[in-house]
Amino acid sequence: MPLSQRVQALAESATIAVSTKAAELKRAGHDIVAFGAGEPDFDTPPHIKAFAHAHIDAGKTKYAPAAGVIEARQAVCEKFSRENGLSFEPKNIIITCGAKEAIYLAFAALLDPGDEVILPVPYWVSFPEQVKINGGIVKPLLGDESNSFKLRPEQIREALTPRTRAFVLNSPSNPGGFTYTPDETRAIASVFRGTRVTVLADELYDRLRFDGVDYLSFAAVDDDARNRTITINSPAKTYAMTGWRVGYAAAAPEIIAAMSRVQSHTTSGPCTFNQYSMADALRADQSGVDEMRRAYQQRGRHMHARLNTLRGVACVQPTGAYYCFANVRATYAALGVTGSVEFSRLVLEKAHVALVPGIAFGSDDHVRLSFATSMEQIDKGLDRLEKLLGRK
Ligand SMILES: Cc1ncc(COP(=O)(O)O)c(C=O)c1O
Repeated sequence: MPLSQRVQALAESATIAVSTKAAELKRAGHDIVAFGAGEPDFDTPPHIKAFAHAHIDAGKTKYAPAAGVIEARQAVCEKFSRENGLSFEPKNIIITCGAKEAIYLAFAALLDPGDEVILPVPYWVSFPEQVKINGGIVKPLLGDESNSFKLRPEQIREALTPRTRAFVLNSPSNPGGFTYTPDETRAIASVFRGTRVTVLADELYDRLRFDGVDYLSFAAVDDDARNRTITINSPAKTYAMTGWRVGYAAAAPEIIAAMSRVQSHTTSGPCTFNQYSMADALRADQSGVDEMRRAYQQRGRHMHARLNTLRGVACVQPTGAYYCFANVRATYAALGVTGSVEFSRLVLEKAHVALVPGIAFGSDDHVRLSFATSMEQIDKGLDRLEKLLGRK
């Protein structure tokens, strides 16, 4: 059956070959250390599970308005006010099926065929495909590794064209692990003044920052930034709720209305009792978040330090999220591999460690390792990598 050109243009996932191989080896009884997963190893906290049970029992099991239930939109406004210094009303908020759908709806609302979207590299895997599905053209912009992959304002200014419709800002970054400082965020915001560029600020990891690194939500820079920004977030990473498929976006009411129109004809929004449960999670005691954040920080420091002792490996220090994006290019010749997919396959077969090839994030010189796993697993995996690659 012929497929649409739009779908044919979508890239096959570069990670599938490696994850299929990992599953095969596991089934064959091998002990695989998994650094591939992009989700917390923690279970959803019991008090949040209890919210969902209560909402199901109370009959919160029917259709909801396309933009989401008002209680959830209100709770999201409170989150933005309390944590990001942003004042929104429910008309500025849409509740979506995870952050992933929020990003999809944002591009659907913004892009006409041929519109350009500047996408910093390395990027989260779904950004380029979602731009393409919605008719846009991806303009990758490579971050400077010596500056933790962060873009400098002049670089962004030079990349702007009359066709630039949107810019993606993901801080803290998956997979880069970097976080823009408030001054850097302000400097980036200044680039867009006087342009028609919308900034899609993916702030999913805003609570998972390490070593007290300061943070400024992009829309909180000033009125100009606020008016041009669609802020994306979700409870997935913060509250270990990846499978609940609930997220949200904040923007000008006309953008939210457009995104809601698309949502009303596609998913109809996330499961209603999950919307109520997210509202409760946002309003409940937040001490569990800090506990998880501290655990990630400790694991991240440890993984980063050990990676940098390995021969041919160099890794930027993560300041947020839970990923190390390690440059392994200098190992390729000795290992007889030509890129990150071959490197990951070899590491899986020889060391039984599962990684994600950097090509999925726009760089074939890197691999991504998630430290959303126990210290014991981190050490086990790093011991195996050390045996394979040697020490510096
Ligand atoms: C940067 C980034 N944006 C969006 C998402 C999607 O999040 P959700 O599970 O809320 O759809 C992820 C998930 O890994 C992510 O890392």
